[in-house]
Amino acid sequence: MDEIKALKMSRGLIMLVSSLMVLGSACGYQLENGGKIWGLLVAGSSGYDNYRHQADVCHAYQILHKNGIPDENIIVMMYDDIAYNEMNPTRGIIVNQPNGSDVYKGVLKDYTGEAVNSTNFLKVLTGDAKGMRGIGSGRVIKSGPSDHVFVNFVDHGAPGLLAFPRDELYADDLERALRKMAVKRQFARLVFYVEACESGSMFDSLLPDDLNIFVVTAADPHESSYACYYDSQRQTFLGDVFSVMWMQDSEKEDLLQESLHHQYEIVRTETNTSHVEEYGDLDVGSMHVSEFLGYQISHKPKSFKTKLPPVNDAVPSHHVPIAILQHKLEAAVDPKEKQEIKFQLHRTLKYRHHMESIVSDILMLATGRDEDKVQELKVNGYKLSPKQFSCYKKLVSSFSEKCFKLSDNPHAFRQLYILANVCGHEKVSMKSMMNAITKVCSRQPRLRGII
Ligand SMILES: *[C@@H]1O[C@H](CO)[C@@H](O)[C@H](O)[C@H]1NC(C)=O
Ligand SMILES: *[C@@H]1O[C@H](CO)[C@@H](O)[C@H](O)[C@H]1NC(C)=O
Ligand SMILES: *[C@@H]1O[C@H](CO)[C@@H](O)[C@H](O)[C@H]1NC(C)=O
Repeated sequence: MDEIKALKMSRGLIMLVSSLMVLGSACGYQLENGGKIWGLLVAGSSGYDNYRHQADVCHAYQILHKNGIPDENIIVMMYDDIAYNEMNPTRGIIVNQPNGSDVYKGVLKDYTGEAVNSTNFLKVLTGDAKGMRGIGSGRVIKSGPSDHVFVNFVDHGAPGLLAFPRDELYADDLERALRKMAVKRQFARLVFYVEACESGSMFDSLLPDDLNIFVVTAADPHESSYACYYDSQRQTFLGDVFSVMWMQDSEKEDLLQESLHHQYEIVRTETNTSHVEEYGDLDVGSMHVSEFLGYQISHKPKSFKTKLPPVNDAVPSHHVPIAILQHKLEAAVDPKEKQEIKFQLHRTLKYRHHMESIVSDILMLATGRDEDKVQELKVNGYKLSPKQFSCYKKLVSSFSEKCFKLSDNPHAFRQLYILANVCGHEKVSMKSMMNAITKVCSRQPRLRGII
């Protein structure tokens, strides 16, 4: 904390001078080199339990918008089933913090519903306008060699993948797309903020440091990211810790002075539930936040700025459905309602337990009942190498198709590290694992369900 205060104070000294210097330039998205800022904001989930992901992304849009980046340069992908969800007591309104203002108002809806998928995301990012013709707004990032691109992705994740409502984006495909963009000089610099479990695994040892790409992730390669701000009226979590922290910082600081690296340091300190990490070309971190998020000149002295609610109710992302039921149970007064929630809670926990035992059965079969190997495969911490992704993709898609549909089961994402372990294990073959998945899960016809 003291360290942060010191950082802020030292910046305060030069702030006045520099504010005077920039008053002349009116436009928050025009860069010194003549380039422009582009923003791509993506929420990869659907469903009311995941309210917070779309709330984060709507909030990110509001920040870019307020900071002078024109709508022509921002693209938003989100399922858009929250604002008018029947569970939402404030129809048409989405908030991202307790008593917060509406972040849904005016938000762009370039791609909604089924158009929010990994194929479309990569096409939009890489500027494939032809490929997006007839889909959603059809707009893509049309950036050039002098431009800065800011990408913000928020959703569930697992080792080497980010979730979309109906499919997944794998780290190797993302890396290939980013490389291609760099070669085609589709940006001067690209900054990518990712909120997802195990988000570090999308870049760790995969993203080169010479592409002018700077990444900040909510979590290291082996841990959860965290939801926060449970709202008892809306009966869901409003935000995610990392997203809340970087956006609160962006609304508080003078972005013309703050460097990306400073923001990273502050957010890393304030996010005490997971390890915020940075990847790629760390030299880009010395650039100002305003060069990616735009800026507005504020004359409000610091002391007048509203104090933000503390984050003291964070839960791991995959625990959210259970935490919501627990909150509902606490609040319920009607005995019949209480009983119904208890039943749901019991069913969810039982289902999760069942899922874990199915995974154990699969491992037992795949290893020929070798308990030592099964134990090895249950140790979290393996790092997939680029050439192991084809094995991993096959196992994940088979597991999702035959056992537990990933998009319906946040808890299923927690099992995927085991599949990554199989791909890295010398003595357990992919083929035996595929067979075991098919065998065990075809015996379980009634596994599907949204838990
Ligand atoms: C939100 O507003 C209500 C009433 O307006 C107040 O009682 C409550 O303390 C506020 N909560 C926060 C977190 O600011
Ligand atoms: C993504 O959406 C497009 C249409 O918007 C569809 O053609 C395509 O099949 C979808 N891809 C996946 C993987 O679902
Ligand atoms: C993180 O910080 C918040 C607010 O300062 C505090 O309430 C919470 O207990 C801390 N959590 C952890 C895991 O240290």
